[in-house]
Amino acid sequence: MRTILMDGDPGHDDVIAFLLALGNPDQLKIAGFTTVAGNSSAENCTHNILKIMDYLGVSIPVARGYESPLVKPLDTAAKFHGETGLDGALNYPSAVSSSDPRHAVAFQRDILGASKEPVTLVTMGPLTNIAILLKTYPEVKEQIEEIVMMGGSYSSGNTLAKSEFNIYADPEAAKIVFDSGVPIVLATIEACYSGGILLTEQESLKDGGKVSRLVYNILKFYSRYAITNGWDRTAIFDMTTIIYLLAPEIFEYRDMRVDIELDGVYTRGMTVCDDRGPTYISDPENPKRVLLKADRDRLAELFFASLKRLDETYR
Ligand code: RIB
Ligand code: CA
Repeated sequence: MRTILMDGDPGHDDVIAFLLALGNPDQLKIAGFTTVAGNSSAENCTHNILKIMDYLGVSIPVARGYESPLVKPLDTAAKFHGETGLDGALNYPSAVSSSDPRHAVAFQRDILGASKEPVTLVTMGPLTNIAILLKTYPEVKEQIEEIVMMGGSYSSGNTLAKSEFNIYADPEAAKIVFDSGVPIVLATIEACYSGGILLTEQESLKDGGKVSRLVYNILKFYSRYAITNGWDRTAIFDMTTIIYLLAPEIFEYRDMRVDIELDGVYTRGMTVCDDRGPTYISDPENPKRVLLKADRDRLAELFFASLKRLDETYR
């Protein structure tokens, strides 16, 4: 059993990652969910995750975080997630629950401080909250098992040619986190794309239970981009973090030094992966685990098995 603290900008794929964690209670205990501005405002992201929890009757504490990155202005991903950050689930009832009165960072500090065993941070958005947490309360590092993040890339990009959105949105925060000494696992763009769920597989969710139909509706909106591009599958980016926690053995990875580019005109927010090998490793004591590829069929099996369990639990 692993205790996890989730931080993200829900966001279609953030929500699906949350659901997969919820669907594996024998392996993962969700201590809380903190929100951060990214795909949409932190206010919208908070409402979105509360709305999903209320729809399922789930009561997991949610705390709202930063509304803007440390330095650069917020640049949302409305074209992928819609103005609300969760378009495609607009006809689901609005949230009635409220978020925790504490700011996300204070909430994270309290959860980590109170936990009897180290906690895994699962990050799925810009790292603004996490950077402030580590800067303000460095003592919590001892309580963090590792950070498993959807973020960065080995060599590609989805926001700039070589920059991934979560890192690009707040590169200064990412640098603080990457330089903190806390162990980091990166679910890169490449790993996420290798684990896409087929559009034909998604169709099977339409006739499933309550949670499967919810995911079907979320993916109907989220898969528009894949359909427009003529792809046969959708990369559900953030859920790759949960799949890694459930089955790390289905991933190929390399441990290497990773730095964050802050000043490049064309490469701001790039995760610079030093893959030259041990002769050059200049940071042997703190390499990052860079996930490169997933076994897609095994990932899909875990995805659908989790949804089946959720359908049986939440009717
Ligand atoms: O680059 C993909 C990431 O950006 C995902 O976390 C998605 O939710 C968006 O935040
Ligand atoms: Ca996200």
